[in-house]
Amino acid sequence: MSLSFSRVHELPPDELAIYRRLEVDRVPKHVAIIMDGNGRWAGKRSLKRFLGHQQGAESVRCVVETASRIGLPWLTLYAFSLENNLKRPRTEVSFLMRLLRTYLSNNVQRMNDNNVRIQYIGRTDELERDVRERMEWAADATKHNTGTVLTLALNYGARSELVDAFRALSGEIERKELRLEDVTEQDIQRHLYTAHMPDPDLLIRTSGEMRISNFLLWQIAYSEIFVTDRLWPDFRGINMLEAIEDFQKRERRYGGLADGSESDDVTSLPANTLVPR
Ligand code: FPP
Repeated sequence: MSLSFSRVHELPPDELAIYRRLEVDRVPKHVAIIMDGNGRWAGKRSLKRFLGHQQGAESVRCVVETASRIGLPWLTLYAFSLENNLKRPRTEVSFLMRLLRTYLSNNVQRMNDNNVRIQYIGRTDELERDVRERMEWAADATKHNTGTVLTLALNYGARSELVDAFRALSGEIERKELRLEDVTEQDIQRHLYTAHMPDPDLLIRTSGEMRISNFLLWQIAYSEIFVTDRLWPDFRGINMLEAIEDFQKRERRYGGLADGSESDDVTSLPANTLVPR
């Protein structure tokens, strides 16, 4: 994917100042975010939880806009988990679904203005029909955009994604009479909801919890993780840029050694050599 022109000049001055400090060729290709803390944000203000979600939707709008301005190719947001669906009161679930419908209706024009394409991952076929219809409408209305791909994880759980992948893969193994010992990581990857996407380089979680919460378990094997105490309704594009700045200070080794480090010559040493005191 390529963006035909840069829209960095559209960043507000505070965001532009951070962007200018970044190494442009080391901006991540894929940022994934666990949006957490809507309820706490509301609780701290003695407000009802739904107002926290409403303010959270505003954060989504702002972060998507910043992502599109910096030309981030992939942005994936954990908007509604399978566990949210099963374990939250029905009134809250139905409010979240209404909020999603409203968000899509009100933001398709803005997504088109920002060249953003929307898509979804998760067991979305289990969502209510009116929600699915609005989701399809938004995906269709933005399908020709070539900028940021905004992926909303909805009714999503990473373990059930793996179950779905294994079911699809075992169907393929049977049909093509493949040998189990020939199955590779790529075969599993090809059957994930995210098969067409690169793995996230950076995973951000708001509200300070040090958990992954069943999000993209396979895909984050080598992602850098950034946890901020900021609650999601207070999170804005500038905070994503700060996370990217922090990401650029890290060294990604994918299980290898740091650049420039030399391996010791240990061929003649017994494995139980004692460390000298
Ligand atoms: C966590 O807050 C967040 C969610 C349950 C879902 C995220 C939903 C939004 C940001 C709303 C709108 C989204 C879209 C795409 C329009 P929490 O309720 O778990 O917070 P808590 O842990 O403080 O209770």
